[in-house]
Amino acid sequence: MNIRHYLQFKDLGADEYAYLFARAAFIKAKFKAVEKHQPFADPDRTLAMIFEKASTRTRVSFEAGMYQLGGSVVHLTTGDSQLGRAEPIEDSAKVISRMVDLVMIRTYEQSKLERFAAHSRVPVINGLTNEFHPCQILADLFTLVEHRPAASGNPLDALRGKVVAWVGDGNNMANTWLQAAELLGFTVHVSTPSGYEVDAKLAGITNPAGYKVFSDPKAACQGADLVTTDVWTSMGFEAENEVRRAAFAQWCVDEAMMAVARPDALFMHCLPAHRGEEVSAEVIDGPQSVVWDEAENRMHVQKALMEYLLLGRLT
Ligand code: CP
Ligand code: NVA
Repeated sequence: MNIRHYLQFKDLGADEYAYLFARAAFIKAKFKAVEKHQPFADPDRTLAMIFEKASTRTRVSFEAGMYQLGGSVVHLTTGDSQLGRAEPIEDSAKVISRMVDLVMIRTYEQSKLERFAAHSRVPVINGLTNEFHPCQILADLFTLVEHRPAASGNPLDALRGKVVAWVGDGNNMANTWLQAAELLGFTVHVSTPSGYEVDAKLAGITNPAGYKVFSDPKAACQGADLVTTDVWTSMGFEAENEVRRAAFAQWCVDEAMMAVARPDALFMHCLPAHRGEEVSAEVIDGPQSVVWDEAENRMHVQKALMEYLLLGRLT
């Protein structure tokens, strides 16, 4: 059987995303109705979660999600496993993937995740790397479709032609937005401080028409359907904190930026957020913000993703 990994957003095709959005909506409805949905109960399936960086949402959403699906979870960190004592990642992959059915990894370089996947017998999911955060964008797009559905009912129609304003760092989230835009046919307006631009090659996109660069963050928000941002300093870059605070001072999503977006524009943030830095309290706690739905949806989309990687299409 062919193993499907989810290492970056473009590892799945548009039709697979259409299926996942519909399936996540079904799984979410079951959860809300307090009805069992346990495709992993018999035989019992196990997910290994490997964290080399901190997490709240990713840990809880994968762990709770796996139990809800009827499966089990093993939680590993660098500090409490041989990963932190220089056991080769290839050896770790060979051993762990003989004992579990799925692996989720949060680590530093994408290349490390790829080395693990190359030696894994089971599907591997990217739970965030320095370069990408595909599970988050999957949740963000699902949330956008949920709040702004297409008249046709097709989730891909809800996304096609939309404008997403990215205000902030040209980081793992920004790169993943660019991949999603290229695949699903929307546009990203990117505004980063000088020196923190997105890199199309690193983002792995081939068509630069999927995004437009703006030096002025407010100009990037003009006419946007969604305004989104992220921390100024991502995990692993803490040594740059002070320099970044100065460089990013104008890249705070505030009410003036939201005012030039479409009147029905949404605000998203993958969280954790720093009010007064990348977003004002008025915006993140305001009426256009859907950050709590966005966070919750991590669990529903990842349940659909895990089910798909292990069992394929069920409808
Ligand atoms: N958004 C996100 O991935 O959050 P955590 O770092 O808490 O997992
Ligand atoms: N860009 C952030 C996202 C955290 C969920 C980071 O990598 O730290």
